[in-house]
Amino acid sequence: MRSIDQIALANTRTFIRVDFNVPLKNGVVADATRIEAALPTLRYACDHGARLVLASHLGRPKGKPQPEFSLAPVAVSLSKLCGQEVRLAPDCVGDEVERLVNALAPGAVLLLENLRFHPEEEANDDGFSRQLARLADVYINDAFGTAHRAHASTVGMVRYVKERGAGFLMQKECEYLGRVLHDPQRPVIAILGGAKVSDKIKVVDHLIDKVDGLLIGGAMAYTFLLAQGKAVGTSRVESDMLEVSRAALAKAAQRGIPLLLPVDHVVADAPEAEGAASVVAGDIPSGKMGLDIGPQTVRRFREEIGRARTIFWNGPLGLFEKKAFAAGTMAIAEALATSSAVTVVGGGDSIAALSASGCADKISHISTGGGASLEFLEGRTLPGVAALEAR
Ligand code: 3PG
Repeated sequence: MRSIDQIALANTRTFIRVDFNVPLKNGVVADATRIEAALPTLRYACDHGARLVLASHLGRPKGKPQPEFSLAPVAVSLSKLCGQEVRLAPDCVGDEVERLVNALAPGAVLLLENLRFHPEEEANDDGFSRQLARLADVYINDAFGTAHRAHASTVGMVRYVKERGAGFLMQKECEYLGRVLHDPQRPVIAILGGAKVSDKIKVVDHLIDKVDGLLIGGAMAYTFLLAQGKAVGTSRVESDMLEVSRAALAKAAQRGIPLLLPVDHVVADAPEAEGAASVVAGDIPSGKMGLDIGPQTVRRFREEIGRARTIFWNGPLGLFEKKAFAAGTMAIAEALATSSAVTVVGGGDSIAALSASGCADKISHISTGGGASLEFLEGRTLPGVAALEAR
């Protein structure tokens, strides 16, 4: 994979696929993390005289223009962040767009309108890919968050542009996530949480081959506990995942990899019953729902974190949006922040928890990819990365 800094950019139309799929609230960008993460690449390209064409999707507008999915708020936010005018094109392909692109001066920035206003983007349509490629002398992919999608802007157009490479964010993501899987400083552990085993089972399966310990919390832990024959009360479980959970537990045992599940829980009658939360050790009584890991589990998880030299975390350990069920997730965020290990965190909820705990700046790398970082850790080749590597 070539890096943007190995390509001559001066006076070229440099097409940068970014992931500006950011949350909006009342028509403004509510969290600019993904935009900020792309700034080093954008600044580098501007400083080197590139004529910048930025392309992104926003949300899932189902292949037709819809005003609420316009990238207009992103153009405003990006202008402020990079301190220069960012013009928004009326579309992402077509004569008018080509005219605007060809008129760009070195260092100027044009943001194309939402790629997903055209169904051909997600269909990885060849004609659409060629249309996008007409806007580019150089193709740079810095959209790690979208690298697991084989779309026209991430895969189809790449072969039609002679000069192609990865932006700094893409490289950083691949480097840090790659470090978890390949040649990490050991011991390496992964902490997985969140609601569903079904979202993470492939990651669990792959990580058992790679890590020295796996710590599981969040609602997904109750499916594993039930698979072990423990009582979980009315906790959320996925009954169709019991078999695969058992298989994962057996695989970990066979390989001698500790797979730690919660040994105590913060429980309540329901998520709304915050006022009546209590701690139980071992089995969860009938009628009670596990909503966070308990203090003994926190201690045990902290010990593992304290020993580790490389740590990956994805998914909250409890229903952290509610104060009564947030202690486990916050304790893990703090333990990561004070650890001297290489720490890599992915997934929107864990990142929100990190920000809430004020620890985000103490993490070695916070991934901008949700689905992409999980697919990476499943050991899959991301199509957007493979396209950059193809000759
Ligand atoms: C993400 O937010 O995970 C990426 O931008 C990909 O978005 P998608 O899941 O709609 O393809």
